Order: sequence, then structure tokens, then C-alpha cells
Amino acid sequence: MEGGADRVEDLRRRKSKAHSGGGQDRISAQHSKGKMTARERIEQLLDSGSFMEVDALVEHRCRDFDMDRNVIPGDGVVCGHGTIDGRLVYCFAQDFTVYGGSLGEMHGLKICKILDMALKTGAPVIGLNDSGGARIQEGVASLGSYAEIFFRNVRASGVIPQISVIMGPCAGGAVYSPAITDFVVMVDKTAHMFITGPEVIRTVTNEEVSFEELGGATTHATMSGVTHFTAESDSSAIEIVRELVGLIPANNLEKPPVVETSDPLDRSCGILDNLVPSDPGQPYDINVVVEEVLDEGSFLEVQADFAKNIVIGMGRLGGHTIGLVANQPMHLAGCLDIDASVKAARFVRFCDAFNIPLLTLVDVPGFLPGANQEWGGIIRHGAKLLYAFAEATVPKLTVITRKAYGGAYDVMSSKHIRGDYNIAWPSAELAVMGAQGAVQIIHRKRINDSKNPEQERMRLVDDYTESFANPYRAASLGYLDDVVLPSETRSSLTKALGALIEKEEVRPAKKHGNIPL
Ligand code: HXC
Repeated sequence: MEGGADRVEDLRRRKSKAHSGGGQDRISAQHSKGKMTARERIEQLLDSGSFMEVDALVEHRCRDFDMDRNVIPGDGVVCGHGTIDGRLVYCFAQDFTVYGGSLGEMHGLKICKILDMALKTGAPVIGLNDSGGARIQEGVASLGSYAEIFFRNVRASGVIPQISVIMGPCAGGAVYSPAITDFVVMVDKTAHMFITGPEVIRTVTNEEVSFEELGGATTHATMSGVTHFTAESDSSAIEIVRELVGLIPANNLEKPPVVETSDPLDRSCGILDNLVPSDPGQPYDINVVVEEVLDEGSFLEVQADFAKNIVIGMGRLGGHTIGLVANQPMHLAGCLDIDASVKAARFVRFCDAFNIPLLTLVDVPGFLPGANQEWGGIIRHGAKLLYAFAEATVPKLTVITRKAYGGAYDVMSSKHIRGDYNIAWPSAELAVMGAQGAVQIIHRKRINDSKNPEQERMRLVDDYTESFANPYRAASLGYLDDVVLPSETRSSLTKALGALIEKEEVRPAKKHGNIPL
């Protein structure tokens, strides 16, 4: 190589080779599956012109299987940093056009460098996954790099937000990096996640199952709860990530960004005054409360199709990000079951780790009864939610709209586990159980001995309802800070949040607790 011009030309050629990945045919194949390329994805993810690539010239060093004759600079993953709405993020995008996006030693170490930089600078990291998994030709070196990634995911957990987008295959142990990260977004039909694929399953267990049934986005959104968001295309998955990043802080030492809102803080929510049916057996949609109380159009629901008996998500209240947890009376009457407890517990811990205040809407008849729930471990899974709320030190606001029965009353961010501002609507019933059940247990003999058992039972139910099925006993004990009209909920909460936003609270120093996993 002679002279400056040649060197410039040489660099250009190298970079251009890195840019073209696996070549035009493979790029066309990627497009024909409805998938964008790694670079197109990053282009859309980041603010225009903000991407700064690192390690475009990294190459694998595998000499087996003739791999030394097939070297593509960049090694199948595009890495770097840029901004989303002006805020720094780190990202990597696996390039399926290069060795099927498979993760070899150097590919993995490039991702590690990004994770290290994100942690050092306190910025979120976003991984766009599209990979055949461990690069078979590189053997254990590939597994080593995976483990290096897992280790870093764990070290960064609770320090910087980590988001995984699955935009193609994600198989075998490769699934464990996304599983550790805070949010998983899957693209419908093109993304698949599983530990062992359909063929291995057929061989080992004789089960016949398709890719889609086994590990498609619908499966993970509705059955396993692995994914938090399902997107209909690469492009909409990326838009979800941008929205999510806008709601959360860059790291655990910062507060979430505050935005100006044109929605008045004291806006009356008139439609809520007539929302709760007088018959406690009648459901209503808790989403109406969410939409009314939060800043207009700000709610981003998380895991919308999993454990629908609890609604979780982030939105804004007076311009501040809040994490919302709400029982949904439309599904299983809003009971807490195993899936709902686990879903909400992890979300509460995310919010607490990243200084996001919690708003809890309560209408819960209790834990779901049933042998399958007991055998499945509702005791230890329900305890996760109790643990998560109790250890959370962010501002905690709780609104009881109707039922708050039994242990579930305690669990749902009650005053006793350090709710900061706990209010109820006049329709609230805070009691060990509903009137019908309570009367049946404490007055069985009296009812049976009565001349007119049904009449006596109804009289006792009315008595119990009058004495216990209301918020005033709890308010008189200071377990509620106030009882408010539903229409006043937004204005009460915005004032309370304003007062609590600088709250600081410490728990005893410890290495870490022992949450019942
Ligand atoms: C090396 C791989 C690869 C891999 C795909 N390729 N997966 N190369 N290691 N793991 C290559 C293919 O050889 C092919 O190269 C190119 O990528 C595209 O692959 P195709 O099979 O043509 O694509 P497609 O039909 O879309 O199928 C994609 C696929 C399939 C479903 C991902 O390739 C597949 O099943 N791959 C193996 C998946 C797997 O079992 N991985 C290991 C999982 S275990 P050419 O040059 O022919 O085009 C694991 C352990 C992680 O990952 C452990 C962490 C602790």
C-alpha cells in the first residue's frame, strides 16, 4: 500500500464491505421476509444522523470449517450509540445477512463493549436481536461470549434500563439475555423465541408444534408472558422502543423526564362518578379510570395480553412518569392469581429501581381460589407482589375504587406496607371479605336457626354492608388519607404527587433481600 490516497481508498473499501454485510442477495432475502436490515433498524431507532458506530472493523478469528476464507468486517452485529429525542442511548443490531446473525466470540464481545459503555455512561441499552444463536463453527468460544453478555446484563440490571427487541430467531440459551432485560418487544410472525426448537421437541417428547405456536409473539404475549409488547412490524417495534425510552430515566440515579402537559392538573373526571356499578358482582372496565385520570393519551400498557386481570403500564400524571398497577374487574373479577402477581411484581420492581412513582388502582376480591393455583405456588408467587410493593421506596399512591378484600387489600400498596397517599372512592369496601361470604361464615348457625333463613340472611348482609362494606371504618383508623369523589381523583393525585415527588426513604442496608423467587 503506497501513499495517502491509497490508504484513504483502502479504509473506504473496508468500511464499505462492513456496510454491505452479507451482500445484496441476502439483504433482498431479508426484505422479502418483511424484515429490515440491521442498519435500517438502527437508522429508524435513533434520531437522524446521531448514530456513531464502533467496531465496524472487528473480524472473527475462527480458523475451523474454512471460516478464515469467509471473513466479513463487523462480524454480524452493528454496534454504537446515538440519541432518541436528544437523549443518549447505546444499541446493537444483529445482522442476519452475516452468518445468520449467529453469535461468535467477537460478535459477542462487541455487544459486551456496548454494555460496558452504557453502564459507564449511565445510558439505556437497546438490543435488536435477529440471530441463529451460538455460531456453531466457533463452539465454546461462542458460548463464552454469551455468558459474558449475561453477566453484564445482570450487573447492569437496575442501573440502566435494558430493552430487547426480537426481530427474527432467538433460540437456545440466547433467549436468556432478553429474559434478563427490563422489556422485550417481539415482532409478530417474524420473531420466535424458544429454548429448544420444534424438531428437538418432536424427537424428545413426540410433541408436534410449529415455530409460531411454540415461540411466536402471540404465544409469548398471551401464554408465557415473556414479551412485554407485540409489534406488527419492525418499524412499529422501533416506535414502541422510542416511546418507552421517552418515559424512563437514563439510569437509576436520575428521575424520569418531566414533560409539559396541556391537560389541566385539576381536570374533573365526571364520568367516573357513575362508573362503578352498585351491584358488587357487576364488572366495569378499569381502563376507563386509567384513561381519565392520567394525562390525556399518555398511557403505554405493558403485557396487555397476559394476565389481563391486572393492568400495568406507564403513563404521565401532571407531566411526571408514573407506573400504573390496576386490578381489572373485567377479567377473573380482578382476582390476583399467579400470573397477575408475577406480572405486576416485576413491573413494580422496575419502577422502584428507576425512580418511577407508582399509582395503584384497587378493586380486588382476593386471591383466586383453586387447587391449581395452590399447587402452582400462589403462596410464593403472591408473596412476590407483596414483597415488591413493600420494598419499593418511590412515591406510592393508591386509589381503592371498590373491593379491597382480605390479604389482597394488604398487598395492593396499602398504607401498612408504606403507601404514601392512600385514598378511596365512596364505593370502596375494605373488609376481610364480601358481605355474602362473611355473613355465611359468622352467622351460619343464626341463619339456619331462624324461622325465615333467607330473610334473616339478607338482613344480616345489609347489616354487614352498612358497617363494613364502605371506606369509612378504614378512614377513621387513618388507613386511608381521604375519601374522594371519583371525579376529584385526578386533582387529588396530581397534588399528592407534586408533594411526594422529592420523597426520599431508605431501607436497612443489605446485600440484597431474598424475594421468594
Ligand atoms: C452458524 C448459522 C447459524 C448458527 C444460521 N446460520 N444459524 N451459522 N451458526 N447458529 C447460517 C446458515 O448456515 C445460513 O448460512 C445462514 O445463517 C442463514 O440461515 P438459514 O438456515 O438459511 O436461514 P433460515 O432458513 O431463515 O433459518 C434460520 C434459522 C436456522 C431458523 C435460525 O438457520 C437455524 O435453525 N439455525 C440454527 C439455530 C440453532 O440451533 N442455533 C443454536 C441454538 S443453541 P448460509 O451460508 O448457508 O446462507 C444456542 C446456544 C446459546 O444458541 C447458548 C448460550 C448460553
